[in-house]
Amino acid sequence: MKILRGRVLTFDRRPETADDYGAYRYWTDGGVAVENGLITAIGDFADMPDGQVIDHHPHLIMPGFIDTHNHFPQMQVIGSYGAQLLDWLNTYTFPAEMQFGDEAHAARIATAYFDEMLRNGTTTPVAYCSVHPQSAEAYFAEAERRNIRALGGKVMMDRNAPDGLLDTPQTSYDDTKALISKWHGRGRGSYVISPRFAITSTPEQLEMAGALCAEHPDLHMQTHLSENRDEIAFTMSLYPDHPDYLGIYEHYGLLGPKALLGHSIHLSDRELGVMRDTQSVAVFCPTSNLFIGSGLFNELRTRDAGVRIAVATDIGGGTSASMFKTLDEAYKVCQLQGQNLPPLYAFYLMTLGNAEALGMADKIGTLDVGTEADIVILNAAATPHAALRMETIETLPEELFVLQTLGDDRMVAEVYVAGEAAKAVL
Ligand code: GUN
Ligand code: ZN
Repeated sequence: MKILRGRVLTFDRRPETADDYGAYRYWTDGGVAVENGLITAIGDFADMPDGQVIDHHPHLIMPGFIDTHNHFPQMQVIGSYGAQLLDWLNTYTFPAEMQFGDEAHAARIATAYFDEMLRNGTTTPVAYCSVHPQSAEAYFAEAERRNIRALGGKVMMDRNAPDGLLDTPQTSYDDTKALISKWHGRGRGSYVISPRFAITSTPEQLEMAGALCAEHPDLHMQTHLSENRDEIAFTMSLYPDHPDYLGIYEHYGLLGPKALLGHSIHLSDRELGVMRDTQSVAVFCPTSNLFIGSGLFNELRTRDAGVRIAVATDIGGGTSASMFKTLDEAYKVCQLQGQNLPPLYAFYLMTLGNAEALGMADKIGTLDVGTEADIVILNAAATPHAALRMETIETLPEELFVLQTLGDDRMVAEVYVAGEAAKAVL
């Protein structure tokens, strides 16, 4: 048994206010006991069972971060200049994804992708792979090799993209079925049914995606929704008989508590009501929304409407694999709308909040006994400037806000995957 010693922080529920100290548990000299990949005790270090002590003082021990929406084939698309969504897809993204029919390329990028996730403290990603089944094979094989809890799926897309990136309604169904039976529930992998978005799917393909959701109600479904004004206009021209963008996904049976709707920026009251009623999740991707110029996600309006919210990097429309940088930009998106995003809420979102959005809080997102030992060790004073700022810090929320505002992978001192140290070996 290992005992990780340090300052220990885990959330029990969503913080309602900036100083909702009842939303989490925190031990200044705490311990987390780990055995066989699971957390077996948490509390004061003095109360820990016997074991091999790994002393991380004065660092902060937290659950590993969760990134609920990114694109593993876009590792080399990050930082592509000067385009908004539809041009960005055609100019940079689709050409990059074309290369993922090549198994060696897919394997190389999968390695780099999981390196980058772990380097930034993300222990559970939810990824879109490319249209090629080989890309999902590479993704799950690399996650399995490292014993990472990973979710993902090959995108289904049968129009409005280059030939090399198109499947058909039938092949997308067959390939998805085969990948589900090979990878879903194998080790720590979960398959996600992934119609890319309405623009790149014919009605026949969305029908197939709906059939897959009906046949596999335990699986997640991910797609993109109302990210950009031109995207919405093009979508409605392709699907003129539906009341709005969300109405398309609603019609094909894609919504529900397992539906992850990337971006969800420009929504009507009707759409928010349907998202609430179906318990679908709005996935806020702030670095991407700012970088591609898509718009400002209205966190307060979405939350007040009773819609579930998750946060994500959206690599490579997003500009960083760091959840700190993601929440830093989320804070600014809220600021621009006169809203607040307190640090306790931000750190809840990247851990327990995202786990709840995935319906997986029994496994990940906390340091609760019985959950999986995916853990980050955080050092808010890892850079000279941050160390200087930390001299003035008096409270835990202040420390979290420094991590979020100045943080990047340097603040992640170590990351444990199912109880095994993983950052040092990168
Ligand atoms: N909409 C459809 N595909 C994509 C994608 O790859 N990235 C983003 N940001 N939006 C999308
Ligand atoms: Zn995306």
